[in-house]
Amino acid sequence: MKNENNIIIMDHPLIQHKITLLRDKNTGSKEFRELISEVTMLMCYEAMRDLPLKEIDVETPLQVTKSKTLSKRHLAFIPILRAGLGMVDGILNLIPTTRVGHIGLYRDHKTLQPIEYYCKLPSDISKRDVIILDPMLATGGTAVDAVAMVKKRNPKSIKFMCILSSSQGIELLCSSHPDIKIYCAAKDNALNENGYIVPGLGDAGDRIFGTK
Ligand code: URA
Repeated sequence: MKNENNIIIMDHPLIQHKITLLRDKNTGSKEFRELISEVTMLMCYEAMRDLPLKEIDVETPLQVTKSKTLSKRHLAFIPILRAGLGMVDGILNLIPTTRVGHIGLYRDHKTLQPIEYYCKLPSDISKRDVIILDPMLATGGTAVDAVAMVKKRNPKSIKFMCILSSSQGIELLCSSHPDIKIYCAAKDNALNENGYIVPGLGDAGDRIFGTK
């Protein structure tokens, strides 16, 4: 795991192996969805390393002992529509009681202003630590806008979790929101003229949902 200031790149061999399968254009939608879910679970395991624990008494078949359990921690995972939805299953497998909000936005071509077309967050968002989910951090524009929109609702803290990022996307997100931690599984250096990560893995939403 590489930690450069606020960017944590999770280069665990299991994750890197699955990223290769995700990149492969011959991987079909079913396997692609499963891989996104598995990589998210592996990333979540590491990104939740700072969850606080408390000690409780538990009765084993032999005796009562002290043992650790998660302290009540208010989390909210917020996938950015639509590709972020692919990461939700993996999160809920690991933390089944967590809350999930949704955010949908696009940028108006003329004004370049972000337009929020959907936002449903837990009502007690100001008491929650938020993790925003999007498998692709490409130009960084959507991520920057999504973080700004979530910040307006005053959560306790924000992390951003993506699977594949570009150097440009990371730079923009870090400079626009230096207060948030970014977790990603791999970083590519280039973007093409359409804003796709190169070599990348293509359009994550299309590959998850089988659209084209
Ligand atoms: N969104 C995607 O799904 N893929 C990219 O490469 C960039 C943005």
